[in-house]
Amino acid sequence: MAKKLWGGRFKKKIDKDFEEFSKSIQYDYKLAEYDINHSIIHAIALKNSGILKTGECKKIILSLNAILQQIGKGKFKPNQACEDIHTEIQNRLEKDIGKLALKMHTLRSRNDQIVFDAKWYCLDSGVHIAKLLVGLSASLKFLAKKYPSSFMVGYTHTQKAQVVKLSDYISAFSGMFFRDSTRLMKFIDGINLYIGAGALAGSSLKVSDYDKAIKEFFKGEKFKNAVNTIENSLDSVSDRDFIIEFLSILSILQMHLSRLSEDFILYSTKEFNFLDLPEEFCTGSSLMPHKKNPDFLELVRGSTGKVYGNLVSILTTMKGLPLTYNRDMQMDKEPLFSSVDTIKDELCIMVKFIKGIKLNKQAVKKALEDESLYATELAEYLVYQNVAFKDAHDIVGKLVRYSEDNKVKIKEMPDTILKKFHKGLNIIVINKIMNPEYAVKSKKSISRRKPKINA
Ligand code: ARG
Repeated sequence: MAKKLWGGRFKKKIDKDFEEFSKSIQYDYKLAEYDINHSIIHAIALKNSGILKTGECKKIILSLNAILQQIGKGKFKPNQACEDIHTEIQNRLEKDIGKLALKMHTLRSRNDQIVFDAKWYCLDSGVHIAKLLVGLSASLKFLAKKYPSSFMVGYTHTQKAQVVKLSDYISAFSGMFFRDSTRLMKFIDGINLYIGAGALAGSSLKVSDYDKAIKEFFKGEKFKNAVNTIENSLDSVSDRDFIIEFLSILSILQMHLSRLSEDFILYSTKEFNFLDLPEEFCTGSSLMPHKKNPDFLELVRGSTGKVYGNLVSILTTMKGLPLTYNRDMQMDKEPLFSSVDTIKDELCIMVKFIKGIKLNKQAVKKALEDESLYATELAEYLVYQNVAFKDAHDIVGKLVRYSEDNKVKIKEMPDTILKKFHKGLNIIVINKIMNPEYAVKSKKSISRRKPKINA
């Protein structure tokens, strides 16, 4: 069994089952590099205070950097017998530099380390996800550009409503992802990493020892976010708001991915047949030979339960926890990692998926022959002939009803019939108004300023 960071006051050995139950190394190894960064800053602060000699500090940092290099090369294999990542790093240090490593944990606590590590992880993951969103925006643009003059049936209540431009339909999603990206950037900018909280009450090292250490650590490097000495150590070790905020942002992003998936699933069914989905992201049925199932989109839609659940899980864990650190907080890692990994995977695949989508122009054209799609435009035309909108609404409503009851298309009605509904109606007007080009062109309220995606 691996050495622990505690134990002096205990007479009995830890129960094996409890030990297994309490371990977090199987997932918190993901925080290794951030934990090492914390250790390096701390070692420099200890040197500044005189607790470590300059040579000792150098030796510690050299050893920590060697672990960082291993991580960089993908060769870091944490010892699964360790309690957590903090223990693992400490044990490695002891193995490498012997007794000197015992000075490393002076005046610091895992309670302080874990917040620092998790915040830096959120920061890096946020930046990574924001970059993936740039890729997603580019894919959506690519799809829209593939069909520059195409139209799309617009729905409300999942009932045919009005004709829209395909590019507008697609950029509706770009708008959602743009807001997600903006939320992420704000979150990233707002993160402050703190150091020096100790277990909860601060440490006897001076603010200036930490300040100098932070400066020395980041020397020459651009790091947008502040690393500060704490203003309130109790709040600092208790804080998990940043995880909740991050998972809220990811939940909204997940909701957008799920809505996009639902639309594409629906429009790729034989019933709609507007979209042809890229085969390499679909699967077949073991029984029904004809099937091409949209599994990727279904899995994205289905992952929403997991991503929302992760947020609710942490909110529930934190509710009612007394100040300050409680071990309950260990439960924040798995939901955090789960949402981050899920979103990253989804975005990576979605970028490729969207590029492979094909529009079935024939099916869309056929759907656009439905005359009810132009009823609103016809009513608006009458408004410009000085008919009050409520009356125009009524006139066109009756015309549509007449068409349905008598199974005759409006475009096929003689002028004598059309004029019964309103004197301004005739076949020339009907043909001019009831087509997708006119319907879309008649809309002047859209500024068509393109949303910029945050890079
Ligand atoms: N594994 C713990 C967590 O994730 C780290 C902090 C443990 N602190 C302690 N005093 N047991 O929250």
